[in-house]
Amino acid sequence: MTGPSESILIVDFGSQVTQLIARRVREAGVYSEIAPFNAAAEAFERMRPGGVILSGSPASVLDADSPRVPDTIFESGLPVLGICYGQQVMMQQLGGQVQLGDSGEFGRAFIEIADGCALFDGLWTEGDRHQVWMSHGDKVTNLAPGFRPVAASPGAPFAVIADDKRRYYAMQFHPEVVHTPDGGKLLANFVRHVCGLKGDWTMAEFRQTKIEEIRKQVGSGRVICGLSGGVDSAVAAVLIHEAIGEQLTCVFVDHGLMRSGEADQVVSLFRGHYNIPLVHVNAETLFMNGLAGVTDPEAKRKFIGKTFIDVFEAEAKKIGGAEFLAQGTLYPDVIESVSFTGGPSVTIKSHHNVGGLPERMNMKLVEPLRELFKDEVRALGRELGLPDVFVGRHPFPGPGLAIRIPGEVTKERCDILRKADAVYLEEIRNAGLYDAIWQAFAVLLPVKTVGVMGDGRTYDSVCGLRGVTSTDGMTADVYPFDASFLTRVATRIVNEVKGVNRVVYDYTSKPPGTIEWE
Ligand code: XMP
Repeated sequence: MTGPSESILIVDFGSQVTQLIARRVREAGVYSEIAPFNAAAEAFERMRPGGVILSGSPASVLDADSPRVPDTIFESGLPVLGICYGQQVMMQQLGGQVQLGDSGEFGRAFIEIADGCALFDGLWTEGDRHQVWMSHGDKVTNLAPGFRPVAASPGAPFAVIADDKRRYYAMQFHPEVVHTPDGGKLLANFVRHVCGLKGDWTMAEFRQTKIEEIRKQVGSGRVICGLSGGVDSAVAAVLIHEAIGEQLTCVFVDHGLMRSGEADQVVSLFRGHYNIPLVHVNAETLFMNGLAGVTDPEAKRKFIGKTFIDVFEAEAKKIGGAEFLAQGTLYPDVIESVSFTGGPSVTIKSHHNVGGLPERMNMKLVEPLRELFKDEVRALGRELGLPDVFVGRHPFPGPGLAIRIPGEVTKERCDILRKADAVYLEEIRNAGLYDAIWQAFAVLLPVKTVGVMGDGRTYDSVCGLRGVTSTDGMTADVYPFDASFLTRVATRIVNEVKGVNRVVYDYTSKPPGTIEWE
């Protein structure tokens, strides 16, 4: 185990992308924890980190009650890196000046390197010009004593500033997002060169740290974990089982909205491979009956979420209840579903794995994957020995096929979709494309069109095919299949799947589309 100083504390001021900082720090081989600004002093004491990173924020340092950095951090003599708001708040607290920007800078910008500093080691040299991602209204107008500018953009004369003696660095742009191509390396330079951390942290240590955390949180309590059939809940369950063994019971509510063969795979993986106690509930009829006549996407999601909870709750009672509920919630689920302030945020879709049950059953949540992105969960799954075919599986939404059948969901339509989807995925695997695609699936449209097969007229449903690449599900690009591939899939589906006589390919990226159709 690395000692406590082999870590970075990230102080969160509420930026949408704070978790990306943690991710980049992990990629540099350093363990990090995120603490909200108002709990940062306590986290700092507890962790004794090797350095601190201050996040961005939707707030303005010019507002009277805007969040601040705990004094103990500046008094500690440890290196600090401020990002965007983090830079401004550093200047504000250390004796510089920040002004309301009249226009701000949003999006791609280019900075010019004016001087060297430890952050740029082996990366950027004086006179270079580099692309970065800016997103700020306010800007620093006067540096605090001890700082010097080392890079500038047209809109931010203090794009990067350094106080080498105190090992304080700050930047106006966001190094954590992919649109700052060298951002990961800048952060790696901070944690390794400036903070002097070894950078030998691995997923194996994450596993160990989380196991200890789970044991501490749960004590001798009982935990129930709902398995969705997907990678996230499976990885969470296996990790928790490793931590607390038989104190965990998994419940798999089979809503009949799974892909072909998926339910059986889950059952054999848990019972056969891991010997983890599993309750398998076949609730297909209940779900199908309840979905009869429901066509509104949110109504479907709400019904499925609520019914899932009802069934789950009943099963939980049967096994004698539990104090804790485990979920495979990932970071993208968290930010798309709640706002930092706890205030109203726009609900794009009600994700069904975040909410409802814990309050109703008075349970506490165990969410060991909450700070991870999908590819990191896969790495953890492999670390835990889950089979590759399972770990590498494309993501699948909680509400299952119901949100891939616009209009009314029936068992018959689910069966048609399962067949079409299986053909599509088989062709993708045969072509060796499965791992290059984030998600590929078929959708069954509530539209009938006329076709001709043999000498006869057909009047059947349209099947849509979706294929996207993505790194985290938050944005996505269309996968550019060859026309010959799509033609082959379309021909097979129309020939082999009764009820479908036309196939179309979805060319919409996210945004403006979403990955799922509902
Ligand atoms: P959207 O359609 O919002 O999907 O672009 C982004 C990613 O999230 C998955 N998804 C869900 N996952 N419960 C889940 O666990 C849900 O309710 C849910 N809805 C969408 C989707 O498959 C994609 O990977």
